[in-house]
Amino acid sequence: MSKILITGAAGFIGYHAALNLLKNGYGVIGIDNINDYYDVNLKYKRLELLNEESVLNSFNWEFIKADLVDKSYLMNIFDKYKPEIVLNFAAQAGVRYSLINPSAYINSNIVGFSNIMECCKEFKVKNFLYASSSSVYGGNSKIPFSEEDGVDHPVSIYAATKKANELIAHTYSHIYNIPTTGLRFFTVYGPWGRPDMAPMIFADAIINEKPVKVFNYGKMSRSFTYIDDVIESIRKLIEKPASPDEGFNKYDPNPSTSWNSYRVFNIGNHKSINLNDFISTMEKELGKNAIREFEEMQDGDVKDTVADNSKIINWIGDFKETSLTTGIKKFVNWYKSFYNSN
Ligand SMILES: NC(=O)c1ccc[n+]([C@@H]2O[C@H](COP(=O)([O-])OP(=O)(O)OC[C@H]3O[C@@H](n4cnc5c(N)ncnc54)[C@H](O)[C@@H]3O)[C@@H](O)[C@H]2O)c1
Repeated sequence: MSKILITGAAGFIGYHAALNLLKNGYGVIGIDNINDYYDVNLKYKRLELLNEESVLNSFNWEFIKADLVDKSYLMNIFDKYKPEIVLNFAAQAGVRYSLINPSAYINSNIVGFSNIMECCKEFKVKNFLYASSSSVYGGNSKIPFSEEDGVDHPVSIYAATKKANELIAHTYSHIYNIPTTGLRFFTVYGPWGRPDMAPMIFADAIINEKPVKVFNYGKMSRSFTYIDDVIESIRKLIEKPASPDEGFNKYDPNPSTSWNSYRVFNIGNHKSINLNDFISTMEKELGKNAIREFEEMQDGDVKDTVADNSKIINWIGDFKETSLTTGIKKFVNWYKSFYNSN
């Protein structure tokens, strides 16, 4: 089985990807700088679980604490392990924090991303997948969001760095023949999720009877996407690297493909859920009412995200969509056991 290097392996999506791939027989090298953007305890716990599972099942797993910004250290890691496949999930995430600390985004998402691409070039990586984001759709009002839409109007530095990643990836696909696949994730949620994202913030507020801030007076919707569905699609994409689009027309270029091995996919549910409905589902599962505090829209936020997921379905055959009720149930069960707040 191929050797896969996952950056951001102590993070939410990276952890789930690592565990799933190890269970499926891949060798995995995880790297992460374990920064303190959110509770590092959660990151260490995820790593602890990966270590425990690996000992129990003799998984081929190794973790290295490293920062994407440190290019020479990254090169040493690539030289030692020679990964055939790279999943780049390490990034400074979060839309709202990018208004406060833009340089964290430039460092990890632009400098760090370029360093990883240089390593992929140097060590002739066969398949490179990286996290982009639904936030690249920025100010677009046409829904659902399609990969064929233009994404030249970002409304946050975070979104701008993700769009820049797609441009950099295209260049490396073109010049160095590296197959690159960009994953535009749409609000991923589930067990071991991120404390800075709505599902965790809402669960915490409802359980502790604190007000739940409902932005844009609830007139917002998201393609909430369950983590297992995301991981399943990633596993299929690992087996199907990007390839040139034979029908690509340079006179009418499709933004999501190319004459070289470059692809970009929406990874999200086709159905969007209104914020208030999301909170109601969580209230039901927690058996407690939320104290809703309605507020204005925040800078950098996008009102609605709706994924057109037909392209990923065409490419890998299907895209599983766990229902919100099932997804929230699994998330709440984990939340209660992790935070001991039954
Ligand atoms: N979770 C979502 O809904 C969502 C939506 C859109 C895009 N994304 C993207 O998917 C990827 C994974 O997201 P996540 O939710 O797992 O976030 P996360 O913050 O839980 O994981 C990212 C990990 O990367 C690490 N990291 C950050 N900068 C680093 C650096 N310079 N060097 C090494 N490690 C570094 C962090 O310590 C963290 O553990 C990110 O690129 C994010 O922007 C996530």
